Amino acid sequence: MSAPGASGTRGARPPARVDRSRLLAWEVLRAVDERGAYANLVLPRLLADSGLTSRDRAFTTELAYGALRAQGTLDGVLDTATSRPVHDIDPPVRDALRLGAYQLLRTRVPARAAVASTVDLVRATSGERPVRFANAVLRRVAARISETGGDLAVLLGAPRFTADPIGHLAVVTTHPRWIVEAVAEAMGDDLDQTRAALAADDERPAVHLVARPGRVERDDLLAEAARAGLTARPGRYSPYAARLEGGDPARLPSVVEGAAAVQDEGSQLVALALAATPTVGPDLGLTVDLCAGPGGKAALLAGLLTGPGPGGGRLIALEPRMARAALVARSLAGERAAWVVRGDGRAAPLAPGSADRVLVDAPCTGLGALRRRPESRWRRTPGDLAALTPLQSALLVAALDLVRPGGVVAYATCSPHPAETTEVVRQVAGQRPDVSLLDARRALPDVDEAGPGPFVQLWPHRHGTDAMFLALLRRAGA
Ligand SMILES: C[S@@+](CC[C@H](N)C(=O)[O-])C[C@H]1O[C@@H](n2cnc3c(N)ncnc32)[C@H](O)[C@@H]1O
Repeated sequence: MSAPGASGTRGARPPARVDRSRLLAWEVLRAVDERGAYANLVLPRLLADSGLTSRDRAFTTELAYGALRAQGTLDGVLDTATSRPVHDIDPPVRDALRLGAYQLLRTRVPARAAVASTVDLVRATSGERPVRFANAVLRRVAARISETGGDLAVLLGAPRFTADPIGHLAVVTTHPRWIVEAVAEAMGDDLDQTRAALAADDERPAVHLVARPGRVERDDLLAEAARAGLTARPGRYSPYAARLEGGDPARLPSVVEGAAAVQDEGSQLVALALAATPTVGPDLGLTVDLCAGPGGKAALLAGLLTGPGPGGGRLIALEPRMARAALVARSLAGERAAWVVRGDGRAAPLAPGSADRVLVDAPCTGLGALRRRPESRWRRTPGDLAALTPLQSALLVAALDLVRPGGVVAYATCSPHPAETTEVVRQVAGQRPDVSLLDARRALPDVDEAGPGPFVQLWPHRHGTDAMFLALLRRAGA
């Protein structure tokens, strides 16, 4: 089999013996490293044109996602095998070495094959010059792994759990320390649960579908999936959710028509909780989604809260970014009482006190969806919080101004980091005597282990959802 022309590669055409799976995985790592690309967008495109068997695709996926998730650990392991700091290694060579180290550490590929195939990859993509270096580094890594039995704590000299539990968990679960600290804090310092939550970031998430209310019944969606040969079962909490065991949801006619869509069950619960929370006083018939793009929650809210009949009203979905506003419009296509407005949620062109319900699904670090974005844990930094938290607070304040007395605001993030969840909500609510915090767990009575309240914090290892955070606030004085 001849190797594909690797875009962005240097030097000679890859010789025929370069393994195609490894080459594609390397291209994903390069795209992430070089262009800041998202692996979950790059990899499917590369695989679609690859002609690889499903087994080889699975191997490519494991290598690319696994090496990205484990990047901090792999760099630590490589550091033990070279006098040159890993960050000084030529990036194309470094990415190949990461793939090699990943195979040695986390797969059943025999050490000799892992080293030899990585050396071939380096030769094909960077020429002959770094080949001896790559070979020597990987042989040393293989020797270190064999000496230590692959025990990361020993291999990387992790602190003992009893002396520095956060530092220990950072090494053995392959997360940066600041994320471990945040998860531990969100877990109320329960370190067993912290470990379990971090381990779940390495699991592949199941695909969840939403059967949009008024568009398709969930049972019909499940039957459709069965006819298409996909194994699907009802969601655990949302009456609109179906969980797929695998397969491509784009094969389902309801998904093609927009009557159903891919949506994590945790996201569905946020919309359901807002819709289920009663307002006080007569409704004005308006729900606002202040941060709507790409429109998943807006579409569910439209199905739950708009239309004819009692409680029927209108939905306005705001989104500042043009491309994302277009996605919201696509999600809301067919909804007759829903409109998309392009604009900043902090200055929505709507009268104060004009909405019964407002959703702030705030832009956030996304630390609750690390399962989906393998590179994210190493790309995100604590500095991101400094930019995000003032925006999150300002959006929540704007939502509280927009909602009428007696109305309800839902504040959600796809992150469990206390700085952008509980701290934002408590700080804003603390300055608003007209606002009370509701017990969000009451809006989701079927969700077990939702936390000590009044917030709801979902976790992949407990609920099988993204780690969504939800707060519900009511404006007093109806
Ligand atoms: C977490 S996403 C929302 C996801 C969406 N609710 C859904 O379920 O599909 C946050 C969105 O907020 C948007 N955003 C960023 N800054 C904003 C602002 N100042 N006002 C309103 N939306 C903003 C982002 O572009 C992004 O689309």
